[in-house]
Amino acid sequence: MAPDSSAAGKTFATTTHIVLPNDTNTLGNLMGGQLLNWMDIAAAISAIRHCRRVVVTAAVNNVSFDQPIRLGDMVTIEAKVSRAFRSSMEVYMDVFVEDGATGERTKSNKAMYTFVAVDQAGAPILVPGVIPETDEEKERFEGALRRRQLRLILAGKMDPKEATELRALFE
Ligand SMILES: CC(C)(COP(=O)(O)OP(=O)(O)OC[C@H]1O[C@@H](n2cnc3c(N)ncnc32)[C@H](O)[C@@H]1OP(=O)(O)O)[C@@H](O)C(=O)NCCC(=O)NCCS
Repeated sequence: MAPDSSAAGKTFATTTHIVLPNDTNTLGNLMGGQLLNWMDIAAAISAIRHCRRVVVTAAVNNVSFDQPIRLGDMVTIEAKVSRAFRSSMEVYMDVFVEDGATGERTKSNKAMYTFVAVDQAGAPILVPGVIPETDEEKERFEGALRRRQLRLILAGKMDPKEATELRALFE
């Protein structure tokens, strides 16, 4: 049974991949869908580490592809649960690209996915809270409530009047 809450750092998950020919488009760059898949897996591991339950992807948010990632590059995804609500968790990811020849490592993009913990019948279940510790974790924890309200409004699942953090935007 998972504890009532756990440190955000304990949810850390990282995966590294090398971009192979099968992962690329006709320009030799990594296909966006492949990166989304890799991020989905890293984020799911992070969410499972937090709640120790089955998790499903509820939403993929704030993904941008800022620069092409090339054949042969190494891609590292770092994922952490930034905040947990009732059954849902926001997983915040940073993506780094490493040039295989020079070792130069640059931040390529970031993304936030929402996972929901479910029981064996697929019904949402409660998850523990997250305790942010570092300055970055605290900043991401604070922002997560705003982002949750925005994504639920856009998904038609929250009345803007209930969005305590964003109400002013919709008045
Ligand atoms: C995600 C899922 C379990 C939510 O079920 P639901 O019946 O909508 O349940 P609820 O309305 O009670 O919402 C449960 C949680 O999901 C969150 N949620 C639902 N839709 C969401 C969305 N579009 N964006 C962010 N969070 C969302 C709710 O905010 C709620 O969070 P909370 O418990 O922390 O407050 C359900 O929609 C599902 O099983 N979807 C398919 C998941 C899947 O197969 N993913 C892989 C895609 S191929």
